[in-house]
Amino acid sequence: MPADILIAAELRELLPDTPVPAHTVEWLPAEAPTPAGPYVAIVPLLSRRIAEPELDALPQLKVVANCAVGVDNVDLDAANRRGIIVTNTPEVLTEATADLTWALILAVARRLKEGQVLVAEGGWTGWHPTQLLGLELNGSTLGIVGAGRIGQAVARRAAAFAMRILYADVSARPELEAETGARRVSLTQLLEESDVVTLHTPSTAETRGMFDHECFNRMRAGSIFINTARGDLVDEAALLAALDAGKLAGVGLDVFPQEPSVHPALVAHPRVVTLPHIGSATTHTRHAMANLAVRNVRAVLAGEPPLTPVLR
Ligand code: DGY
Repeated sequence: MPADILIAAELRELLPDTPVPAHTVEWLPAEAPTPAGPYVAIVPLLSRRIAEPELDALPQLKVVANCAVGVDNVDLDAANRRGIIVTNTPEVLTEATADLTWALILAVARRLKEGQVLVAEGGWTGWHPTQLLGLELNGSTLGIVGAGRIGQAVARRAAAFAMRILYADVSARPELEAETGARRVSLTQLLEESDVVTLHTPSTAETRGMFDHECFNRMRAGSIFINTARGDLVDEAALLAALDAGKLAGVGLDVFPQEPSVHPALVAHPRVVTLPHIGSATTHTRHAMANLAVRNVRAVLAGEPPLTPVLR
């Protein structure tokens, strides 16, 4: 039977041998262009753009089952116009991504990159009372921009560090407030009062570039900025300017505007921790993401409702 389903080749080892019974898979490597043909489903990685040209070349397509919670790589309007269902992988990656966010918060607050370099390069001469002093999280304020699933999971962990929690979101989260003491404030207030600002909004036409010079200027002197959401939410020039001006004490980034390229000034900066988009990279979570994406394909091809549709 000719292949009628496209699945990212990098997911193969996370999936059963026959991911979609009664269908044949063509395994599509990340570097290969999206082919044209009578495919009925595609499971892309977040690095593959699925927009008008790709959808035009896939006239039989029924479902784009993105293997990510973010769907900024998919033109949702173009899919919608063609009646193509788009699904994502929410829930299954929430805890892993929140953990990684905290790994960055701790690494930056306690200056782990500088400490590691000091030891590795033989520059450490012994315990010193004022060496590598960082931010005491206990009693500090954490500002969460975007209190969806991941932002909320980050907030729950903050309670264990006895941090005051602020959040900015279009919706109030009364359960989160009751559970963690988090308080909903405007973005402006959050920026002005937080010692650590962490970003958890999706990348959309409205949010792209939202963290600009004005936002960084409003942040507290000596505060910390963390981004595990999407790189294009941040104006990178503004981020670098805030670092250079000493406005930011440190930055933790797992995502970048032009992945896999990372601005060399960020890589080289002693107070910036740069990671290769590994927020969801645990064995458990990556299996769960791949299998949820494929279960969405199975449901749509069986004429059932998708498990996790992205609603426009
Ligand atoms: C997502 O699912 O959008 C994440 O960025 C993947 O780690």
